[in-house]
Amino acid sequence: MATELDPDRALADLRALRDLTEDDRGAQRVAWTDTWAQARVWLRERLADLPVRVDTDEAGNLWAVLEGASPETVVLGSHIDSVPDGGWLDGALGVLGGLEVLRTLAESGTPPPVTVALVDWADEEGARFGRSLLGSGLATRTLHPRDVRDVTDRDGVALADALAAHGVDLHAAPAARARLEPAVAYLELHIEQGPVLERDGLSVGVVTGTAGVVRHAVRIRGQAVQGGGFPMEARRDALVAGARLVLAVREAARDARSRATVGAITVRPAIPTAVPGLCELTIDQRHPDADALAAMVNEVHDAAAHIAVDERVAIDFERIWAIAPVAFDDDLIALADETASEVTGVSARLFSGALHDAAAVASAGVPAVMLFVQSAGGISHAPEEDTAPEHLAAGVRTLARLADRVIARSARPPG
Ligand code: HGY
Ligand code: MN
Ligand code: MN
Repeated sequence: MATELDPDRALADLRALRDLTEDDRGAQRVAWTDTWAQARVWLRERLADLPVRVDTDEAGNLWAVLEGASPETVVLGSHIDSVPDGGWLDGALGVLGGLEVLRTLAESGTPPPVTVALVDWADEEGARFGRSLLGSGLATRTLHPRDVRDVTDRDGVALADALAAHGVDLHAAPAARARLEPAVAYLELHIEQGPVLERDGLSVGVVTGTAGVVRHAVRIRGQAVQGGGFPMEARRDALVAGARLVLAVREAARDARSRATVGAITVRPAIPTAVPGLCELTIDQRHPDADALAAMVNEVHDAAAHIAVDERVAIDFERIWAIAPVAFDDDLIALADETASEVTGVSARLFSGALHDAAAVASAGVPAVMLFVQSAGGISHAPEEDTAPEHLAAGVRTLARLADRVIARSARPPG
């Protein structure tokens, strides 16, 4: 009977999931698609041999629960969904690293002193509907069904219908909050998705919190006209206005801790011979400081007002998603720091500009912390995403050791 943690099993699982769900453009585990559902069937198969209770909650999150001597629960988790043309590790590392920790505890033959759960949050990425942390947001009630009731994807499919096709009733989703009632700690392992750990020669770092995010959908309305006939100075070109707005978004992110991305843009009629009459784009702005974030957002709104006058177009902003900056739990950060030093000989604390389900969990009052492993070249949300096996293994070992300590700390004293 194997009772030793074996990070190679997590690596083998990660490779198997990659083989199952990638095509020549990268990982295709976009939430609420067939490939994502297949990934979850595969995950359930991996869990089937363990003495764990497996089911999905009302928000579509997949849980595997190893009953311990007491109901207090230490939760490990991340997400198995990916962006389109994504990488093999984003989210999957936390789920399959967590699986290896759960498997080791289950194989020890004695129930742990507290309950240990693994969760695969549904739709962390928000790739299709533009709302990140969907499953964890609904389960923590940091997101309410009414906030997403009218949301549709690019093809006009309603979010509620996409969820329903996978057995999730959007309006019942807040009932998933019950799953977190017994949670005493939440631990998430993830790739860094940035260059810091690699630059500093570290395998593992401890995450102190996540940036605040404000996300807008912007609609720019000008007038479509024939591109050959219509004079330049009289045009109301929605794309020219959009291009100026993209530059203003970048300009407003001049401070070193700010981030701003226009990641999606469409124009109509989108033919070579017509001036675009309509341009739609998304703006995602981030900062660890709430006031600085608000100032960045205002700067872009002001810039848009000027561009609208100059280009004689209408620019409408719809705020589609936001989260405040989140600080993780001080005690868990200190414990994670000690653990990372023990396992890898050195540790560092860093802040996350990328969002994670841990932010929703922490916002709901559950003490949370994250571990990062280095990302090769800092590249993620792309098929080139990679991390060397030794760093992945160090991350899984650190997660396991941290889980052991948190479990021991959470156990009731005997008698
Ligand atoms: O950072 C993000 O927005 C993504 O959901 N991880
Ligand atoms: Mn992720
Ligand atoms: Mn991601």
